[in-house]
Amino acid sequence: MVGKAAVQEVRLVVGATLPRATRWMADELVKLTRDTISAQRSMSISFAGGATPRGLYELLASPLWRARVDWSKIVAFLSDERCVPPRDPRSNYRMIRESLLDRVLIAPRNVHPIPTESGDINKDSATYAATLTSLLPTGPGGVPKLDCVLLGLGPDGHAASLFPGNEEAISNTSLVTAVSPPFAPTPRITLTPRIFNAASHVFILTAGSLKAGALAGALAYDASVADHPVRSIAPVAGNLTFVTDVEACESLNDVKLRDDITTIRL
Ligand code: 6PG
Repeated sequence: MVGKAAVQEVRLVVGATLPRATRWMADELVKLTRDTISAQRSMSISFAGGATPRGLYELLASPLWRARVDWSKIVAFLSDERCVPPRDPRSNYRMIRESLLDRVLIAPRNVHPIPTESGDINKDSATYAATLTSLLPTGPGGVPKLDCVLLGLGPDGHAASLFPGNEEAISNTSLVTAVSPPFAPTPRITLTPRIFNAASHVFILTAGSLKAGALAGALAYDASVADHPVRSIAPVAGNLTFVTDVEACESLNDVKLRDDITTIRL
């Protein structure tokens, strides 16, 4: 879609620094979990890999923050995974567990890692799609609805494991698909835009000047999805929020921006 995305609202939240933006994201998540849990008694979150999301997880798990979320009512999924064993240092699940889930009172039965050990990544993808379908309520278009999706943004414009040039993964009608990134030695399993776009709240966390080109591509009026896969993420009945710092916004003045962005400067 060129120009206007099909979302209710696109917010661009800009912190002077990454720590400031991360604190805003943590506070927003605290408010969102409180409101969602009071309305529906639980809340599903899909967690992203990457260093920027990790900073949020470590903050949420810190003594001043961990009690601000009722983790007993949270149901955790992953937005994508590398096809390695769960204890492998490259595993997103290991990172998310060590930085957050092992440090808060979330019920083990409510933690749903992406399976990676059957030896068949297509089977693992189908298994996870079935897990999402069985555990989540039906959302827009009959698609399982996640309450909250957390994502990072790669310097090449990827989000989750939706990489430039991989139109098949981006347009896939499945909820979950296996991909072989052009640069990475390991295949990956990723949720697809189909399920991301049925979510209520999608947050994309990115910072630093290395991401300036990717953020400009995400927010430009006429960038292509093929070049910037993050543009395929446009919740049909939900909100999309980019949480970033001043450095990552360095290239926004170089492009004509989409006309549906609300900017919040912290
Ligand atoms: C991963 C994620 C990837 C990540 C971005 C941002 O497995 O790493 O699939 O999408 O979220 O690459 O990562 P950084 O925040 O570390 O740049």
